[in-house]
Amino acid sequence: MSFKAGLIKYNTFNQVCKRSNSFWANVAMGPPDAILGVTEAFKRDTNPKKVNLGVGAYRDDNGKPYVLSCVRKAEKRLLEKSLDKEYLPISGTADFCKHSINLALGDNNPVVSNGLNATVQGISGTGSLRIGAAFLKSFFPGNKTVYIPIPTWGNHTPIFKHSGLDVKTYTFYDPKTCGFDFKGAMDDISKIPEKSIILLHACAHNPTGVDPNPQQWAELSQLIKKRNLFPYLDMAYQGFASGNIDKDAFAVRLFVKDGHQIGLAQSFAKNMGLYGERAGAFTITTASKDEADKVLSQLKILVRPMYSNPPMNGARIVTEILSDKELRAEWLQEVKVMADRIISVRAKLRENLKKEGSSLNWQHITDQIGMFCFTGMKPQQVEKITKDFSVYLTKDGRISMAGVTSKNVEYLAHAMHTVTK
Ligand code: LMR
Repeated sequence: MSFKAGLIKYNTFNQVCKRSNSFWANVAMGPPDAILGVTEAFKRDTNPKKVNLGVGAYRDDNGKPYVLSCVRKAEKRLLEKSLDKEYLPISGTADFCKHSINLALGDNNPVVSNGLNATVQGISGTGSLRIGAAFLKSFFPGNKTVYIPIPTWGNHTPIFKHSGLDVKTYTFYDPKTCGFDFKGAMDDISKIPEKSIILLHACAHNPTGVDPNPQQWAELSQLIKKRNLFPYLDMAYQGFASGNIDKDAFAVRLFVKDGHQIGLAQSFAKNMGLYGERAGAFTITTASKDEADKVLSQLKILVRPMYSNPPMNGARIVTEILSDKELRAEWLQEVKVMADRIISVRAKLRENLKKEGSSLNWQHITDQIGMFCFTGMKPQQVEKITKDFSVYLTKDGRISMAGVTSKNVEYLAHAMHTVTK
């Protein structure tokens, strides 16, 4: 480059960089995401002993991401079919939607048999929740406020607010027992204005790992009916909590059986390990087939300007697995293996805390269920365990049990004991 050309290039660069009237001059730096930001910080840490217990993503006992064998087989079959890459319908593939809702409600359920569901494919759990929120904002005939449990998944409030719904809370967790505050929840729910929306975690409550028992679910369902509330169930962990897809769908099926019309967001991120594939579904149940058709037509109108139509690969994998007897059986076994590993590592963590000499009561580690343990660690303790031991977790003291392995459990117990003693 000649000297003159270089100078022109330099001056142009300077003008671009130093523009004082930039459109973006007033954009403030936003905070890192409360959950995904933890992974970013973890990646920057050079300590070889570092442990990431932030995001809820399953790891095998070597701490490595795990692709299910049934998923690999489904992918191979799909490859052999040489399928095209045409756009999916706005609502996703009909087969995927049918298999998803049947998984939630059980085969031969009267809702699907009678055409009383409007189900669309969503972009994993978040995208599915977001479609539902948009639909409720436009069409819910009552109070456009969602009552969420305290605490709840860090993305719930942003999803609902982003859709223009108001967000209020109800009691769920009792920090004294590290368990479900049934009385607090019932008291609060009985005061929610009629015809409001209530968000429920169908199983493996995130972040606490605390679920109502079947009797408590039954009472919650009756109360929610009495108050004429609309139950919006978030089921991100079907199969992952207990290792059994039917057991984990108990609450969803109970609400349907009790005559509620429900909203349901499903995700295949955890139970099929399809995190980045973004496969999920959103359903509204209705009183008639005609209503279901109309709801579906409106869901499509909402989806079209947001992202036109959903991605196909994850949905194809899910359909391949759920529609094939052999692959489905293999999946059911694999989801149980994942759930069992988490259950066993909970026991190991508790044992090791005892070995460390901790006098605290860690029973909740084994009482809680699913991907997460809400340890009860305070923000300063979380800060210290990250700073001194490179153990990464969310500020609320939640640890992803999926990141705990037989290799790091002693180190983790030692670190937890040191910062909590
Ligand atoms: C989590 O809570 O860690 C997961 O659901 C991942 C996410 O998107 O937040």
